Amino acid sequence: MKVFITRIIPEAGLRLFREAGIEITQWEEKRELTQQELIDHCKQADALLTAGRSTINAAFLKECSHLKAVSLFAVGYDNVDVPEATRLGIPIGHTPDVLSKATADIAFLLMQNTARKAFFHHKRILNGDWNFFEPMANIGLDLQGKTLGVFGLGKIGFEMAKSCKGAFEMDILYHNRSQNAEAEEKLQAKKVSFEELLAQSDVISVHANLTEETKGLFNKETFGKMKPNAIFVNTARGAIHNEEDLLEALQQKTIWGAGLDVTNPEPMDKDNVLLSLPNVAVLPHIGSSTEETRNNMAILAAKNAIAGIRNERLPKVVNPEVYESKKS
Ligand code: GLV
Ligand code: GLV
Repeated sequence: MKVFITRIIPEAGLRLFREAGIEITQWEEKRELTQQELIDHCKQADALLTAGRSTINAAFLKECSHLKAVSLFAVGYDNVDVPEATRLGIPIGHTPDVLSKATADIAFLLMQNTARKAFFHHKRILNGDWNFFEPMANIGLDLQGKTLGVFGLGKIGFEMAKSCKGAFEMDILYHNRSQNAEAEEKLQAKKVSFEELLAQSDVISVHANLTEETKGLFNKETFGKMKPNAIFVNTARGAIHNEEDLLEALQQKTIWGAGLDVTNPEPMDKDNVLLSLPNVAVLPHIGSSTEETRNNMAILAAKNAIAGIRNERLPKVVNPEVYESKKS
């Protein structure tokens, strides 16, 4: 039995494959595989473990319908044609829960850095621009007692809300399709309409999946409904915001600032004007990037792939419907 892995991943996951007697092939080049290279490698494998942004589309799945699992080293699965995988009986695994706190920490960090213009001040020092004290120059905003609006309150959004409540006694609003009873009970979070979230939040933090409904949802119109002192934070997927509209909203002071761990496109061009604005903090998609979290992701992704190879149910499966349609 064989697994193909599209990146070098932590030993904690590789060990599980070895213990299960599964042969590992890892892609070690520092570039994304072409679709054809991915197909060629998967033809030799029983399961695919994919990290990075490989597109698992219908054409790929058709070529590789023999795969017993596609295991994502990620929680998000917008790069996968899930209905097609389900139709072909291929279970898709992902890594929820284990990365929730680390990702929420990056949202929290971006919120604070934006509010205090920390990345900008760091750049000032690097540029030799640490001049005399000016009480009015480049000042930030307080977060104490402000209102956080969580767009998509799942596990990551919950952790962000908990940190904001604990550190700054922020009031928590959220917009979700379903109610989150735990957040309402433990954090006194209040479910509101999307319009209310936009109008009432001092910080809006995006933690939703990228879907047809959320694509481009934060745009000229919706930024226009936010408070002029609002900070927009996105650690979910860059395509949920329109980046040209975001730049315009910041330049015209429609909103106050933005903290992004995800951009549109990725990578962001180094000359992007957003990077020069004092009220903007950008990170290169490092939400889950801690030693502990990446180890835990490797373990869970390996467990998903191994279960697939053994014809067992994946511990964290995106498309459980596959078990209803599949004859065992
Ligand atoms: C990262 O973006 C993930 O989906 O885990
Ligand atoms: C996924 O987006 C989550 O909130 O866990």
